Amino acid sequence: GAEPVRVDIQTGQAGPVIARQIYGQFAEHLGAGIYEGLWVGTDSKIPNVRGWRSDVVNALKAIKVPVLRWPGGCFADEYHWRDGIGPQSQRPPRVNTSWGGVIEPNSVGTHEFMDLAEQLGTEVYINANLGSGTVQEMAQWLEYLTAEGDTALARERRANGRDKPWKVQYWGIGNESWGCGGNMKPSYYADQYKQWATFAKAPRGNRPKLVASGGQELELHWTETLSAEIKQMSAITHHQYSLPTRDWKKKGAAIGFPESEWISTLAVPQTIDGYLAKHREILDRNDPAKKFAIYFDEWGSWYDPEPGTDPGFLVQRNTLRDAVLAALHFHVFHRHAERVKMANIAQMVNVLQAVVITDKERMVLTPTYHAFAMHLPFMDATSLPVQLSGVPTYALGKYSIPAVSASAAKGVDGKLLLSLTNTNPNQALPLQLAVGGKGVRAVTGQLLTAAAMDAENRFEAPDRVKPQPFKAQAKDGTLNVTLPAKSVLVLEVQP
Ligand code: AHR
Repeated sequence: GAEPVRVDIQTGQAGPVIARQIYGQFAEHLGAGIYEGLWVGTDSKIPNVRGWRSDVVNALKAIKVPVLRWPGGCFADEYHWRDGIGPQSQRPPRVNTSWGGVIEPNSVGTHEFMDLAEQLGTEVYINANLGSGTVQEMAQWLEYLTAEGDTALARERRANGRDKPWKVQYWGIGNESWGCGGNMKPSYYADQYKQWATFAKAPRGNRPKLVASGGQELELHWTETLSAEIKQMSAITHHQYSLPTRDWKKKGAAIGFPESEWISTLAVPQTIDGYLAKHREILDRNDPAKKFAIYFDEWGSWYDPEPGTDPGFLVQRNTLRDAVLAALHFHVFHRHAERVKMANIAQMVNVLQAVVITDKERMVLTPTYHAFAMHLPFMDATSLPVQLSGVPTYALGKYSIPAVSASAAKGVDGKLLLSLTNTNPNQALPLQLAVGGKGVRAVTGQLLTAAAMDAENRFEAPDRVKPQPFKAQAKDGTLNVTLPAKSVLVLEVQP
């Protein structure tokens, strides 16, 4: 058979810590992302805790959501927090002009969101409205959330049922300010940001990290301007979506796609890798002390909407391709962990590359969910370089990518971790594993694959794409494993 690919983990050269926030989520008031998918209200027959559906919350607890971004997205720049406090029946209905023009009932507001975060045990990343709000409105929202003393806003919060201030870990000032967040130039945004950041005050010990809204893809001028002009910030955001065709008018189908769109989609993370390197060069020049992180707070596949659904709801199916795509993103984020300290998949439930999909009282875990679950041990792990040799190229049409991608780390419990993907949908690959040039004794872990590129979990067949236990032992001092075609494999390695 073919020569095995050699995978050698370099334990002697510890890299940066992989912030667990890289495995973060994003939930916007968009389609069924919040209403139906998470929030059913207290009167619902669907079992819920104070309105949040228990099945979905429990599934999300199992992947230990480290940070949750809310309320948008584009929605954030038209959200006025006062609409979402006080008795639910008296909250003003508004039009969600970003997403489908539907009525936003404001049943989910600050108190409800913070309750969800507490149920999930996650940090919160609240995105404030720079686009159509005021500095005062933003300042008061933060005060409402965090005030300790006997101020009018703290009293109002208490009257609305919350005595203690909440912890707010991250505070975003605007979203996609180059587009839906106000169509600004980077220099104009930087000036605005500085003014807003000045008034984003909170008590000592509960000051959120301030996050500036950056560019997307190869918009280096955003990173350049923001990092040169702003001092008071912890991070600059970055967005990049994976469109099979790269064409926003016709993005490509979520299922039943040709192999040419399998490879074109899986080629995106490699592009991201190169782009991030360029953004980091700028940061290294403007911020050599490494105070500014990159928060990759929107990423994931973006396909044509599911036929028959409102195109403004961004409903799409989720297949094995999405799981491999997620793992490839994780590898890129691990590689750039020195600067990339947070990433948030778009989006958590029912929207774009969702980890959970619901239909009334039913729920299904997507292949992407399983990719997250398999990588749990990588949270807060210390990254380790991996030397790969003999990796074949997988090529089709104008795309060519390495068939094997790998990422290794030392988990917080000291275990040696290895994540692998085989992007080639047609060919299994023999691998030979080593640690620091020496043979490996055994591996145990989980394998995710399926017969078809577009295999998915449906409500009537929820376990079609599900991780399977995997193990192998050395023979005569070498450990050989077969990495199945189109797969994700996460291993604990025993050197
Ligand atoms: O995730 C969907 C949308 O994509 C977000 O609201 C926006 O920030 C981006 O354009």
